[in-house]
Amino acid sequence: MSEKQDRIAQLERDRELLDTQIKELLRTEHRLAGARMRYERQLRRIELLNRFALAATGTQSSIDLMNLAMPMLFSLFPFEQAAAFTLRENDYLCPFCVRALAGREADSRERLGEIGEQHEISAEAPPKEPVLLGDDELGDATPFVRRVVEVTRELYAAPAPAPSTTFGASLVMPLVGRGKWALGAIVLRHDAPSLISSHERLPTEADMPFVRLTAAHVAAALQSVRLFEQVRDIAELKEAYASKVVDAQEQERIRVARELHDAIAQQLVAMRMDAEWISERLDADHPAHDVSHQLTTRLAQTIVSIRNIVYDLRPPLLDDLGVASAIKAYATQITSNAEIELDVEIVDDPEALPQQVATALYRIAQESINNAVRHAEATTLRVTVEDSGSAVLLRVRDDGRGISSDKLNASTSMGLVGMRERAALLGGELTINSRPGTGTLVSAAIPYARDPSK
Ligand SMILES: Nc1ncnc2c1ncn2[C@@H]1O[C@H](COP(=O)(O)OP(=O)(O)O)[C@@H](O)[C@H]1O
Ligand SMILES: [Mg+2]
Repeated sequence: MSEKQDRIAQLERDRELLDTQIKELLRTEHRLAGARMRYERQLRRIELLNRFALAATGTQSSIDLMNLAMPMLFSLFPFEQAAAFTLRENDYLCPFCVRALAGREADSRERLGEIGEQHEISAEAPPKEPVLLGDDELGDATPFVRRVVEVTRELYAAPAPAPSTTFGASLVMPLVGRGKWALGAIVLRHDAPSLISSHERLPTEADMPFVRLTAAHVAAALQSVRLFEQVRDIAELKEAYASKVVDAQEQERIRVARELHDAIAQQLVAMRMDAEWISERLDADHPAHDVSHQLTTRLAQTIVSIRNIVYDLRPPLLDDLGVASAIKAYATQITSNAEIELDVEIVDDPEALPQQVATALYRIAQESINNAVRHAEATTLRVTVEDSGSAVLLRVRDDGRGISSDKLNASTSMGLVGMRERAALLGGELTINSRPGTGTLVSAAIPYARDPSK
């Protein structure tokens, strides 16, 4: 063999080797490109999840949250219909559904919002894991899955496609919170998956770990919103309850006042007249004369006491008088027989106060003025009413002996406790500044929104 032939053969071998190496390289590059694509896709998905989680921390209602979740889900998975079902705690009803339509373009989504009617779902729990199923597999699904898919179809009222040509596909994502709290489910649907382009393929079993991760994100956000909603509901209930209690107290006072006035006071008046009648007919030296005279006087005193109690119990017509004038009238009346100098300053006489605010203010004034007259041994009593436009301010100051700190904080000081409660129930504040020897200042500030009907 000539040297030339040898070199040709060698070159031929080198070329073949190079060829295989190039082919190997190309294959590696292809694999790398694939891996890179998958990596970028995963990165984009995680980014979407993160963005959702961030935005979700600012939402305060389940519906708002679902309206955030839907666009994210459409970006993650190539479905075009979605419905969210949230379950109440002990029964599997659906208090609301959110539905959404993904358009082919990213931002042509529409019909995000609440659907008014409630849909009864199933007495059975949602599945523990996400379920991906075609409409032809619905028959084998659990009642819960079947029902939510059916409701989702109804929501879109899609004309039933000819069953032989296309089958819809659904992804049912259960939302399970901490402590296995079943919160609901999201259904993603496509009526005709065959129309989806190949690069937007429907999720497969391989995508399930990511589907689970997504569901966990939505569930965590939903759970914290639900807790927030519950706390808010409880606060609202408490407020409504508190104002009912105050209303009931007022009604009861009015009822007691009426009974006292109509039944007892009237009887006493009749008895006093009888006693007078007897007195007049008894000679001055008759043994019963003095007794019947005393009886008449005592009955007269009792009638005055009862009238005072009735006056205390029955709120004056605050609407007619205005709360400041009513307070002034009360203070004047109650101090008329006391050795105390009264100074009432009405900086403003607030108008159009809500009934509850006016009553609370009047009751607080009544109690603190009473206390000053009964307990303080004060020489002066100063009452001020001011209106800031969004709150009424009441100050009752005496220069008496002050309240000892144990009485000030005792839960048995029903008058003081009651004043604080009345203010607090209406979102106001009541402070009592008092030290033995320096006198007492009661200040109440009660916020209000102007009653437009007045
Ligand atoms: N302005 C005041 N000056 C001095 N002592 C007061 C004053 N207000 C309240 N007190 C004291 O605090 C106690 C508790 O007041 P309160 O809760 O209104 O109960 P009550 O008036 O029924 O005794 C009173 O018994 C009294 O000793
Ligand atoms: Mg009192």
